[in-house]
Amino acid sequence: MPILVTGATGTVGGAVVRRLLAAGHEVRALTRAPAAARLPAGVEVVAGDFTDPPSLLPALRGVERVHLVSMEGDGSAIVDVLREAGVRRLTHLGHDDPGRTDDDPLESWHRAFHRAIESSGIGWTHLFPGEFMANTREWAPSIRARRVVRAPFGDWNSAMVHEDDIAAIAVRALLTDGHEGRTYRPTGPAPVRRRDAVRLIGEAVGSPVRFVELSPGQARELWRDVYPPQVVEWFLEMGRSPEGNTWVSPDVEEVLGRRALTFERWAHDHAADFR
Ligand SMILES: NC(=O)c1ccc[n+]([C@@H]2O[C@H](COP(=O)([O-])OP(=O)(O)OC[C@H]3O[C@@H](n4cnc5c(N)ncnc54)[C@H](OP(=O)(O)O)[C@@H]3O)[C@@H](O)[C@H]2O)c1
Repeated sequence: MPILVTGATGTVGGAVVRRLLAAGHEVRALTRAPAAARLPAGVEVVAGDFTDPPSLLPALRGVERVHLVSMEGDGSAIVDVLREAGVRRLTHLGHDDPGRTDDDPLESWHRAFHRAIESSGIGWTHLFPGEFMANTREWAPSIRARRVVRAPFGDWNSAMVHEDDIAAIAVRALLTDGHEGRTYRPTGPAPVRRRDAVRLIGEAVGSPVRFVELSPGQARELWRDVYPPQVVEWFLEMGRSPEGNTWVSPDVEEVLGRRALTFERWAHDHAADFR
């Protein structure tokens, strides 16, 4: 019986696919664009789009276990389709920020999705990770071209998480009992400052990378053409917090029985992206 991985062409879903294959499981991958999807040999690739929930049905045929990433769409309609198709176990990669209220439209959308999952009758496990180490890949073009990162908040500190730790927890929850009804919030093993992350990437690629600190105004200019305005403001607001996201979660150690992967390790795993 295949396990369906949504978000399979993305950062975490890709790592879930690799881990399930390595564990000998049959994997089906959902994507909106099968022709463009670069997935490992042996993966069955099926088209489907969260914004059109019935389009998920072909991918769900004969499937009882799903890794679901919340990206867009009507959470309640998506979960209805999953339940009616016979899904019994679900790992859900999403996001929550208890510090924000339902007045925040993005937060409110995520919470409606969580409620739909929790009341679905499907055995669910939420994964609400900290900031991804992989977000630093946005620096790759500038590092490759000029060995420099221009960004605000060099001292901002964040216990960023390696995508493979999130994937390893998802796979554990998909394959073994005891994780249903649990919410995991994996982070990395220690906070890393922005400017140190840049230095560690330089060490991993074997050539120093300079960090040039931008003012928030300069960052707003730089990001204006890259992200929607509310996302830019959200980044700037987050970066202003003096201590950053320094909380370190026990979840990786509790679920996997080992320390969370470090940023040094992530930079070595992804050095080719920055060369
Ligand atoms: N980045 C962070 O720091 C962070 C922190 C906490 C939580 N999160 C959560 O992590 C999740 C993102 O995970 P990620 O970074 O691994 O994803 P990602 O690399 O951004 O990739 C997005 C994936 O979602 C799929 N997708 C997007 N829209 C879709 C649609 N309408 N229908 C079907 N599939 C769709 C894409 O598939 P195709 O393009 O192939 O269709 C792709 O595989 C989000 O839920 C986010 O809230 C992120």
